[in-house]
Amino acid sequence: MKSNKPVIYWSKNRFLPYTLVLYTQPVRLVFRIAIFKRAKCMNILLINGPNLQLLGEREPDVYGTQSLEDSNGKVKRYAEELGVQLETRQTNAEGEIVQWIGDAPKEFNGIIINPAAYTHTSIAIRDAVAAIRIPVVEVHLSNIHAREEFRRQSMTAPVCIGQICGFNVQGYELALKGLVEHINKHKDEY
Ligand code: DQA
Repeated sequence: MKSNKPVIYWSKNRFLPYTLVLYTQPVRLVFRIAIFKRAKCMNILLINGPNLQLLGEREPDVYGTQSLEDSNGKVKRYAEELGVQLETRQTNAEGEIVQWIGDAPKEFNGIIINPAAYTHTSIAIRDAVAAIRIPVVEVHLSNIHAREEFRRQSMTAPVCIGQICGFNVQGYELALKGLVEHINKHKDEY
């Protein structure tokens, strides 16, 4: 007895990563349901640090005219194209960034961070990045190496897998591409 093509429901909820397959057998009208646990999809955290909530209004000649909302929307659409989940957060508080980084491995496979001014000062954020095993990519909208002397040093870059700067908001997409490829390449380590 041949069954019809199964109907497949694919849960998009990341807390419920299941695929439900409904087989129908038209003769006996028997329904068989199979639920498979699906491999969790890659989950990335994007953190923007202090003053980046002002993106678009803040020094537009240096940081561009796109708002943080626009930028986050763009990179989220790109994440969808790559088939990964992306959560975006912004805070002006150094301690909050430290906490988010420390908690991230429970939920995320990698982090993209623009620590903004904390890049140049924060040993606490550097230590948090060094303390976790998941990979972190640092992003800056501007080319910090072509600006004031105090911006040329990054506390955090040496403990990240890489740094992208000078490409404005496109830097987040470049970072996402690099990070996803890196995680896929080093699957066994993370
Ligand atoms: C920045 C560069 C930092 O020096 C500065 O303090 C910022 C933004 C950037 O994205 O270019 O706030 O991180």
